[in-house]
Amino acid sequence: MATSFCSFNVPKSQDPPKPLNPSLQNPPSPPLHLHNQNHSSKLVITGPSKLSGHVAISGSKNSSLPILAATLFCSGTSKLANVPCLSDTRAMASVLASLGAEVQVLGDEILVNADGVRSVEPCPDEIRKCEVGSSSLGRCWPGSAPPRSPCRGCDIGARPVDLYVQGLRALGAVVELRDGKVQAYAANGRGLVGGTFQLDYPSVGATETLMMAACLADGVTLLSNVAKEPEVVALARFLIESGACIEGAGSNKIVIKGKSWLHGSECKIDPDRIETGTFMLAAAITRSCISMSPVIPSHVSCLTEKLRAAGCKIRQRSHDTLEILAVSTDGANLNGFNVKTGPFPAFPTDLQPQTMALLTTCNGSSIVEESVFNKRMGHANELLKLGARIQVCGSTALVLGKDKGSLLSGSSPIAKDLRGGMSLVLAGLAATGNTEISGVSHIDRGYENIDAKLQSLGADVKRLIPLTCSESQ
Ligand code: EPU
Repeated sequence: MATSFCSFNVPKSQDPPKPLNPSLQNPPSPPLHLHNQNHSSKLVITGPSKLSGHVAISGSKNSSLPILAATLFCSGTSKLANVPCLSDTRAMASVLASLGAEVQVLGDEILVNADGVRSVEPCPDEIRKCEVGSSSLGRCWPGSAPPRSPCRGCDIGARPVDLYVQGLRALGAVVELRDGKVQAYAANGRGLVGGTFQLDYPSVGATETLMMAACLADGVTLLSNVAKEPEVVALARFLIESGACIEGAGSNKIVIKGKSWLHGSECKIDPDRIETGTFMLAAAITRSCISMSPVIPSHVSCLTEKLRAAGCKIRQRSHDTLEILAVSTDGANLNGFNVKTGPFPAFPTDLQPQTMALLTTCNGSSIVEESVFNKRMGHANELLKLGARIQVCGSTALVLGKDKGSLLSGSSPIAKDLRGGMSLVLAGLAATGNTEISGVSHIDRGYENIDAKLQSLGADVKRLIPLTCSESQ
């Protein structure tokens, strides 16, 4: 075992030279932080709303983050298109820049050249801003990152990294908790070696991290019981495009043949399936008809089935356009349904809170079981403020619907996490009167221009940004 930190998987001497993209040699300082997102801003929604029209779905946050992390593995420049402008993606870009990567943000494109990165010790302040904590553990140089539990974006339950640690150890890494940080380096002083690892649970982040790490390990790696989420498939696509040899992403076994180096490549981030689902639920809770694109219908098929069973009509207008019609022609209300979250292709945990908001307006009682995160029920208490009837017991909620459509009424709930915050926005759209939501920075982490998008569909939504001391003078 190594006694000191040493590089692993550093590109070997016979590797081809890596030209630095001239446009990146002296890039202008990237606008990595968003200025219009004030921590104490509020959203005020006057309902009940009727939505109509078309909404453009942004690129996926949860796909952008690991692919941005993966650019650290590539020599030369990587170019990502359709990256959503969110505080999380900007924080990730900032993490890369703080490690020494050259990062350029040009609209929805992010260019990264990590040739100058020689160690991976992300700034804890940047890491704390978003859900990027653990991806950097898979980086090829000695890495350290704050442990996951206290530093991640949403407080929705325990966020251990045991599977990351076990998996990296199976590839020959030494992983230790030192000075409050997780530190990782290669035991043999040279690089990671291919190995076999079965995850106890198909964790998305652990699958992504181990897949990245194995791409530059020496030999073949077999990962089993891995996550099958579309974000894992998209990351594999980017890595393969960058020269990696990966088979099986999207199934429960992934085989990776290590390469000595990867090159930068271009990729277009997939549409955000959680934003897609959220707008489908927005149409349902307001009993409206809207269309949305671009979407990948198979990414939201579980929600589509549930909404159809509830009484919504969902049509695929073209290969990437969905229309949802939740307007009743005979005055019948939507029916409640039961939901149990689980790893893809089961019902996504990231749509559970928004679905709970819808169920408060449907016929009958519904049961919502959260099986992915152990503390993702915080939004229920906030929904009660709007008149919802929900009883929570551990990770299960009994939602008592309303027999005559929405009887929610405006209130002042607090967004305490991203998806829970969005459930309050949906409830606010359906509620009568004003709903003033605070804690909006949580929502801004995952929904690009949410107020403008809802306004364009006809909702009465305003963002209140408090004046700073200097502005008010
Ligand atoms: N887990 C472990 N040990 C580990 C890793 C995970 O026990 O080493 C457990 C977690 O405690 C949790 C479960 O496994 O109970 C699922 O965690 P997973 O690792 O799959 O989730 P993640 O990678 O941390 C990503 C998304 C989440 C999304 C989940 C599940 C990103 C940046 N985040 O998180 O997105 O809920 O997968 O699909 O991709 C969100 O966007 O609001 C969000 C929370």
